[in-house]
Amino acid sequence: MEKIVIEGKTRLKGTVEISGAKNAAVAILPATILVNGISTIENVPNISDIETYCEILKTLGVKIKKLAEHTLEIDTRNIESVEAPLDLTSKFRASYYLTGALLGRCKHAIVGMPGGCKLGARPMDQHIKAFEALGATTDTEQGKIEVKAKRLIGNSIYLDIVSVGATINAMLVSVLAEGITTIENAAKEPHIVDLANFLNKMGANIVGAGTDRIRVQGVKELKKNETYSVVPDQIEAGTFMLAAVATRGDITIKNCITKHLESVTAKIIEMGANVEDIEGEAIRVTCNKRPNKVNIKTLPYPGFPTDLQPQMGVAMSIAEGTSIINESIWDSRFQYTEELNRMGAKITSQGKVAFFEGVEKLVGAPVYATDLRAGAALVIAGITAEGTTQIYNVEHIDRGYEHIEEKFIKLGAKIKRVKE
Ligand code: UD1
Repeated sequence: MEKIVIEGKTRLKGTVEISGAKNAAVAILPATILVNGISTIENVPNISDIETYCEILKTLGVKIKKLAEHTLEIDTRNIESVEAPLDLTSKFRASYYLTGALLGRCKHAIVGMPGGCKLGARPMDQHIKAFEALGATTDTEQGKIEVKAKRLIGNSIYLDIVSVGATINAMLVSVLAEGITTIENAAKEPHIVDLANFLNKMGANIVGAGTDRIRVQGVKELKKNETYSVVPDQIEAGTFMLAAVATRGDITIKNCITKHLESVTAKIIEMGANVEDIEGEAIRVTCNKRPNKVNIKTLPYPGFPTDLQPQMGVAMSIAEGTSIINESIWDSRFQYTEELNRMGAKITSQGKVAFFEGVEKLVGAPVYATDLRAGAALVIAGITAEGTTQIYNVEHIDRGYEHIEEKFIKLGAKIKRVKE
């Protein structure tokens, strides 16, 4: 078992380079199945979710060569199986994209119901609605979802709720379908646009990604031997922005798309931090005072991302006054607040609302990463706290943050990983 140990009270200073986006990469990797050839994907983050995805794809007959630390050559010419192993798919949520990709290419997929962070109920009804709209039949028994179709024919899909996963699966299943598919009330997250850019580079015909109406004109096949580079990670960038606020630091975040960070930028300016946008590709956050209280409501993009809610919670826990978070996406995203309370925070939560009565300082304690973003929040908390913090369940953090200790050490943090 590994834990992360942090000696706290450090003001982070320096420059950090952002990796490729986890949530884009975990959609693009299965999307290569639609290519039926070789694709080269660059700027792939070196995280455990990607390792798991590669393992799953290999069980289906996909050949993957690591050309460099962040570059994968993916050969999907020989798909030998349409059934993804349950033990691997249950490790994370993004395994649900295999369903759309395999159905799109092979007209058949059997995929174990996805796992991932325990943030509350994570139904797939909207994904199923999309598959069925194009003519597939679905069967969800014994922890698996099986989808089959004789033909996939484009249709109009209206999503009842704005869902990232359902929007992506609807795109994956319609790229090679006959005719036109329209996805109404689509999610607009940067990784949806990135997946559309990847598929279009491969010869798909998708317009409107990034708006709430996406139109996919089916094509017969995609191009082979193309190279695509994954977009920078919006959530990793936001994590470092909030680390600068919580530690009263001065961090320049390079290789990010500042447009993707507008909702976070607006809120941390309200908290009294200074934000400098450097030509749309880097952002410098400085904070030399106790943050002001602030209220947020998490929303689909371009609203404040739920995946930055716990990291924002750390900054709020040491802000002046009482801040409020209204979590509108997930039912159980406040588990981390109990861990912060062990460190001296004063947070109370009722259902999807939490109140953060700001304290002057946090104090190091043993804490447990309850999920991926909660883990990142605890790292920031440990760096800002007085004394020693020990974070357990670090495997959650490794799912989505590349070289997390190294990146924070470069900014001055005293952080190490210890085997027990
Ligand atoms: C993705 C992200 C996750 C992020 C979330 C919201 C990936 C791999 N994961 O998750 O990090 O927290 O977006 O930004 O990109 N819902 C339904 N029926 C469905 C699908 C979703 O009711 O068929 C509900 C969910 O329970 C949730 C809301 O819709 O309340 C949004 O979920 P969704 O956008 O689908 O999240 P994910 O794609 O699972």
